[in-house]
Amino acid sequence: MDGVTKTGFAVSVSGMNHYFGSGEARKQAIWDVSLDIAPGSLTVLMGPSGSGKTTVLTLMGCLRDVQEGSVRLLGEELNGASGAQVVALRKRIGFIFQAHNLHGSLTATQNVMMALQVHGSGDTAAQRRAAHHMLGLVGLADRVNYLPQNLSGGQKQRVAVARALVSNPEVVFADEPTAALDKESGMTVVDMLKDLGRLRGTTTVMVTHDNRILDRADRIVTLEDGRVVSDKNNT
Ligand SMILES: Nc1ncnc2c1ncn2[C@@H]1O[C@H](COP(=O)(O)OP(=O)(O)OP(=O)(O)O)[C@@H](O)[C@H]1O
Ligand SMILES: [Mg+2]
Repeated sequence: MDGVTKTGFAVSVSGMNHYFGSGEARKQAIWDVSLDIAPGSLTVLMGPSGSGKTTVLTLMGCLRDVQEGSVRLLGEELNGASGAQVVALRKRIGFIFQAHNLHGSLTATQNVMMALQVHGSGDTAAQRRAAHHMLGLVGLADRVNYLPQNLSGGQKQRVAVARALVSNPEVVFADEPTAALDKESGMTVVDMLKDLGRLRGTTTVMVTHDNRILDRADRIVTLEDGRVVSDKNNT
């Protein structure tokens, strides 16, 4: 079942602690975080700068090793997971970062196609068609052959969104994906993610400071000093 696991949660975090540094400098950044994320939902992570949002997001998305506690992503335990397990899981998820991490020497189309090439799915012509389709959905139909240096900040961010979504991920992790976007394209991105949740059961966990997005969220989790201080369903 896509995006749904035996436990019924897309992501299930329990008793997670995380530390940075070593020896005298070792500091605890995340304190006993537990969160169950329902499949198909849009969850927003909020909180002041340094409260641990990016750390929690990257731990849930297997971009960092889990040190203490349990993190189950799509039913698989990440604490102690093998390299092969992590590689396989990463193919089922999408990431959108504030720093969009596009390859400067590749066009918009080629950047989006890369996400399909790592999966080895389809031939080049099919990958190009899928990339063009997704770039059209984010409003970049007339920019498909542009290099990142010739795109605005918001346009680059939309390429990053297209790249994250083109492979139909089961879970999307997004770290301030609308920060570089004007109001209208920011809401387009969020509405796309919501529609994916409805249509395909895609689960989204998004860090944002953007108040306009809160209305669209199913759930709002607030972190402070590495702890969950509030967890509200937005009904
Ligand atoms: N690589 C690292 N080494 C040491 N400390 C780190 C590292 N990454 C994060 N931290 C610390 O962990 C805490 C949480 O950082 P994190 O990046 O998760 O915060 P954040 O909520 O995403 O903040 P922002 O809104 O500014 O992006 C901060 O105190 C930060 O200084
Ligand atoms: Mg951050």
